[in-house]
Amino acid sequence: MRSGKAQVKTRSTGGSEPKRCHVLPVVHAARRPSRRGLDIHNQTLCERCSQCRGGGGRLTTQLGRALEKHERWRAYQCLNLIASENVTSPAVRRMLGSDLGHRYTAQDRFYLGSKFTDEVEETASQLVREVFGSEWADATLHSGHLADMTLLSAFAKRGDRIVTVGSNDGGYFGIGDVGYPRILGLETLHFPFDRDRWNIQIDKTFELIRREHPRIVVLGASFILFPHPVEALAKACLENNALLAYDGSHVLGLIAGGLFQQPLKEGARILLGSTHKSLFGPQGGVIAAFSEEGETMKQTIFPALRDNAHWNRIAAVAQALIETKKFGKQYARQVIRNSRALAEALDESGVPIRCRECGYTASHQVLLEMERLRDGENVPDRLQEANVIVDRGIRLGTNEMTRRGMQEKDMNEVAGIISGVVLGKGNLHHAKKRAMRLASKFPRVQYA
Ligand SMILES: Cc1ncc(COP(=O)(O)O)c(C=O)c1O
Repeated sequence: MRSGKAQVKTRSTGGSEPKRCHVLPVVHAARRPSRRGLDIHNQTLCERCSQCRGGGGRLTTQLGRALEKHERWRAYQCLNLIASENVTSPAVRRMLGSDLGHRYTAQDRFYLGSKFTDEVEETASQLVREVFGSEWADATLHSGHLADMTLLSAFAKRGDRIVTVGSNDGGYFGIGDVGYPRILGLETLHFPFDRDRWNIQIDKTFELIRREHPRIVVLGASFILFPHPVEALAKACLENNALLAYDGSHVLGLIAGGLFQQPLKEGARILLGSTHKSLFGPQGGVIAAFSEEGETMKQTIFPALRDNAHWNRIAAVAQALIETKKFGKQYARQVIRNSRALAEALDESGVPIRCRECGYTASHQVLLEMERLRDGENVPDRLQEANVIVDRGIRLGTNEMTRRGMQEKDMNEVAGIISGVVLGKGNLHHAKKRAMRLASKFPRVQYA
């Protein structure tokens, strides 16, 4: 223990060397916690320690192996281009694995022992306010979807109308006809949408708002390339007594870095979203708002939509925001550069990419034109065989690859691998080798 590294004494299982446990440094080094923290290199179960073996047994072994296989594949061997995912820093993982995750402290103070968790909550809330420029904040929601549910539950009642981006135009289905609005009995209308510019049609939207008197207008989408016209819409919403909110689940990391757009400054009353897509956090949801709307949502959150708060996750979100404050701008700038470089290289190689005339993208996403791809529905599976992981959209996200340190020149290589698979040139085995070689050069989390 002199070195400060966590060591585990094991009952003799053959070898005499004590082994360092990579998974639970604090538990194993109870008398002196490890300062190493976790890193994505060392997320494997150690073989000897009984705590890591989780009591042993076939199922534990199976579970451990599944985890190892998953991590080896997704963390080290794949090019992860899912726009909804990201990787967290060792410090964020440390928070997630901490004792805070064992504790039960609801807002009604029924459970004692919360004198330090209060600090965690206040720090997280303060960081959200700072990073997104809001008067009020909540970082306790378990997901972006719950943040959307909070918005709709707090401000709309049965029979009200809301306007969202339609799911055919890349809107989030969770706040579309089939999602939560159906449960609340709301009528969902869709923004008139211009697919060439991948944005809402502002004049027709004005008409829609005047004609239909929606209670809530929600900007933001799952497939989002360009900033929305928040300022123009804010005026129309004010005149027609509609609440303007922005679901920034996808672009929150770019907004936090001061790029893309600043919805609250531009006139939205509420900004909400996931903490783990372009942002640095673990999975979760945040809401940043003006005080008036915030106080209304507070009544909805507890105890209706959330009781027990997950303090370890909230601490991890706070840590992610600390990293964002320091590195967010640099990261966001590189994400956007990488998206443009990827789009351009793919387009040049003959892969149909949306919105060439508008510069392809101003976000972490690049959209392939599925309809123009031969055998398009099989492309995601073929890419997966080549260790390039995408969704069935096909929407490519540069956020995780950027967080691992890739730059424009690496995007050329990514584009080369993808275009070979998409256009059916070369064999998948060769593409996979190229993908693995590239991925292996970027195993660590950067901007932290
Ligand atoms: C625009 C948008 N909002 C909300 C969500 C829900 O996010 P979460 O997965 O954090 O619940 C998604 C999910 O993809 C999304 O794309």
